[in-house]
Amino acid sequence: MSADLVIVANRLPVDRVTLPDGTPGWRRSPGGLVSAIEPVMRANDGTWIGWPGGDDQDLEPFEDDGMHLVPIGLEPDEIELFYEGFSNATIWPIYHDLVAKPEFHREWWDSYVRVNRKFAAKAAELASEGATVWVHDYQLQLVPQMLRDLRPDLRIGFYLHIPFPPAELFQQLPWRRQILEGLLGADLVGFQLPGGAANFVRLVRQRVGHKTHRDLVYLPDGRTVRAAAFPISIDAAGFEKLALTESVVARAAEIRQALGNPRRIFLGIDRLDYTKGIYARLRAFAELIEDGHFDVEDAVFVQVAVPSREQVEQYRILRDEIDRLVGRINGDLGRIGRPAISYLHTSYPREEMAALYCAADIMVVTPYRDGMNLVAKEYVACRTEDDGALVLSEFAGAADELRQAWLVNPYDLNGMKSALLEAYQSDEKDLTRRMKAMRKTIRQHDVAAWADSFMAELATFSHSTHAKTVRPARRS
Ligand code: G6P
Repeated sequence: MSADLVIVANRLPVDRVTLPDGTPGWRRSPGGLVSAIEPVMRANDGTWIGWPGGDDQDLEPFEDDGMHLVPIGLEPDEIELFYEGFSNATIWPIYHDLVAKPEFHREWWDSYVRVNRKFAAKAAELASEGATVWVHDYQLQLVPQMLRDLRPDLRIGFYLHIPFPPAELFQQLPWRRQILEGLLGADLVGFQLPGGAANFVRLVRQRVGHKTHRDLVYLPDGRTVRAAAFPISIDAAGFEKLALTESVVARAAEIRQALGNPRRIFLGIDRLDYTKGIYARLRAFAELIEDGHFDVEDAVFVQVAVPSREQVEQYRILRDEIDRLVGRINGDLGRIGRPAISYLHTSYPREEMAALYCAADIMVVTPYRDGMNLVAKEYVACRTEDDGALVLSEFAGAADELRQAWLVNPYDLNGMKSALLEAYQSDEKDLTRRMKAMRKTIRQHDVAAWADSFMAELATFSHSTHAKTVRPARRS
């Protein structure tokens, strides 16, 4: 079967898991990428190629919730070298400001090339004549050029969900030129922020030597590639609706009750990742109690840490550090039935997330570097009464749009303490003014608008005049 729209992402929207009774089942994949692409898929009857997690090799294509999914199996050594290695221990830290030290291994790179080739071959096989193929994220940066070599008739878009680093950092990569050339296979290369697009164009000029003008790159073969920002978003109306359902409202009340109805509930929800700044934020909260600004009877911090990349060493180290910190803070500051931090190492379905957002007075999102951070946007969408405070890192992409949040530098512990305290003490009027403005922003720039603008731009920019047109995600 061939498709007019093919999505290529490292992950499928569902992940292969073993259920408690030992049988195999499916669970929604972690991360913001999946929730953002789903609406485009539904509107277009497309095909989604991705890894289903685990090392099953022969899973057949299947339908899930109206989406046509094509699993690509990864061998155990590919999981280790391509996924855990090059994607998550080389590219991930370099693209996130070197928050952790990246490792460079030639066999990781070789595996990255091989797996990218596998994804490109599958996309080439499934795309119909003149189809649109939309490739996603840092795990697949070589796919655009590989695919163009195989299928010059296609319209190819690429979107990077994480930050694109400044030249000074990117240059460390021994394979910097190959990665830039891989991305240039696309007609349109999308980034979260204008700064990422500018970094890319500058690097292409300096390292590959192509002519550029503003956001355009002119290739010797006559093609023009555009690099531009498309800040990603969420299904704002969907979250708002969810927050108003009876079961979510009731669950939010139950959560508050279970926490002992404190005056204020602080909340953090993140993949357990060293870029997220979980450690520093918990310390800031604990110090506010130690300094006597409030007590465990007044405030509790709920931290949900979604298990992530557990085979990668840096992630294991982080988990141990957070475990120790939470234990120490609760041991020092908690009372019977009143821990200072309620720590949950698990993932929750959308309904429970919405209930947590509704229950929380202060949402704390303090990454050292983050492409966008959809949790911040989800919190805002769920505050249907225009209350609640958002404390947000300046270094999350979302800070560009959510200007009315308490913006903080996550490296500045005292600054973070002041912001948390201000949010804790702020009055209703101030909260309403801020939240109203932020909700308006999120409503206007939802995920459908994001996908539509990318698709519209891709259609304009395609080299191929006979490529088919893809319907926008927004249905009016
Ligand atoms: C981020 C990345 C995604 C990734 C997700 C979950 O959101 O941008 O590409 O899928 O994290 O990480 P994982 O390694 O579990 O796929």
